[in-house]
Amino acid sequence: MGNRGRADLPLAVQAGDGALTLEERAEVWIEPYWNAEHLRRTRDWLLELEPDASEALRLAALTHDMERHFPEGSPQQNLAVPPEGDMEYRRLHSERSAAIVGDWLRGEGADEGLVAEIERLILAHEVGGAQDEDLLHAADSISFIETNVDLPARWAAEGKCTFERGVDQHRWMYERIRVPRARELARPLYERILGLAA
Ligand SMILES: [Fe+2]
Repeated sequence: MGNRGRADLPLAVQAGDGALTLEERAEVWIEPYWNAEHLRRTRDWLLELEPDASEALRLAALTHDMERHFPEGSPQQNLAVPPEGDMEYRRLHSERSAAIVGDWLRGEGADEGLVAEIERLILAHEVGGAQDEDLLHAADSISFIETNVDLPARWAAEGKCTFERGVDQHRWMYERIRVPRARELARPLYERILGLAA
């Protein structure tokens, strides 16, 4: 997958700088991404759901969408169908993110076992599966609903789809959550979206 994104690394935090942890270097790496707040809030919600979340989970939460920061070659979702009708897009997005994050982690000198764990989690972030994968999936979903409040209006203004289709993206994000506590936490955030549509 080459050196995608490597040029974005600030010199001060390249591999070998022991001053920052890997997680702190990831915070720096994601900073220029336009939706970095969604990634940071995914980690926050992960820690709300599981205060003892592993380093792999925290790093996966913080980086799971990073392929969107490198739009050349990024898969495009089909907004003419409901979200659950285009899981092929979700698979391609997950695979590309896992590859880009894996490349970045190796460039940072991360342990190969840790890299494999993070890649596994990112590959599963749109579908869940194992308990830790469900936690990441839930945290991502809550953060999406929280940090993309303006998405229906933005997509409609850009001519990508109707306002209602944008709201439906939030409906899907809410309904897909499997962790009961996460559903509770997402409910008021989803109701805020429904209020916009009313
Ligand atoms: Fe996400």
